[in-house]
Amino acid sequence: MLDGFQYLPEYLNRQAQEELVDDIRNHMKNNPFFTPRMPRSNNPFSVKMTNFGELGWVSDGTGYRYEKTHPTTKKTWPSIPRPLMSIWEDISQYKNPPHACLVNYYNSGAKMGLHVDNDEEDLAAPVVSISLGDTARFRIGGLNRKDPTQSFKLHSGDVVVLGGQSRLAYHGIDHIYGGSSTLLKKGGRLNLTLRRVNV
Ligand code: SIN
Ligand code: FE2
Repeated sequence: MLDGFQYLPEYLNRQAQEELVDDIRNHMKNNPFFTPRMPRSNNPFSVKMTNFGELGWVSDGTGYRYEKTHPTTKKTWPSIPRPLMSIWEDISQYKNPPHACLVNYYNSGAKMGLHVDNDEEDLAAPVVSISLGDTARFRIGGLNRKDPTQSFKLHSGDVVVLGGQSRLAYHGIDHIYGGSSTLLKKGGRLNLTLRRVNV
């Protein structure tokens, strides 16, 4: 595993997870999930997305980028919920706060292909990733797409940090274990990634 990768299982206990879900739900008012599309092909992602923070990650036929506003409501994104800022402060070891929190929602058929998070200018800051709800099989490799990979399960409350060398590692979600968690009333998995975008 590349240097700077951290896997922090059970970082949030059940109560902290429930409080975080309530907070996220409040920040979802007027901030619905949208369906991102692949650049060029325009094919929809199976994952639904929205964002919190000054900037949010979006993708459509013209490409991947950060935007100040939601692609369908055209409103600015809600602020990043306080408990997520605390997680960043506790584990990022970074001097500055995140600009963006991408919220990914996976239903039981959704997955995310191997990719690198490299739309950010500030690559010295880590990506901090929080899992809630159904268990996922996460896959991580090296700096090249063809490097060997390893996979492990991410459970509700687990946190992963892609920092240091691992900041530009290929990673993705192979599979969601539908019905494996009772945290989210409608099932599925929420993933929150905190990102510093600009230097
Ligand atoms: C991502 O790479 O943006 C999401 C990873 C995850 O869902 O755990
Ligand atoms: Fe990613």
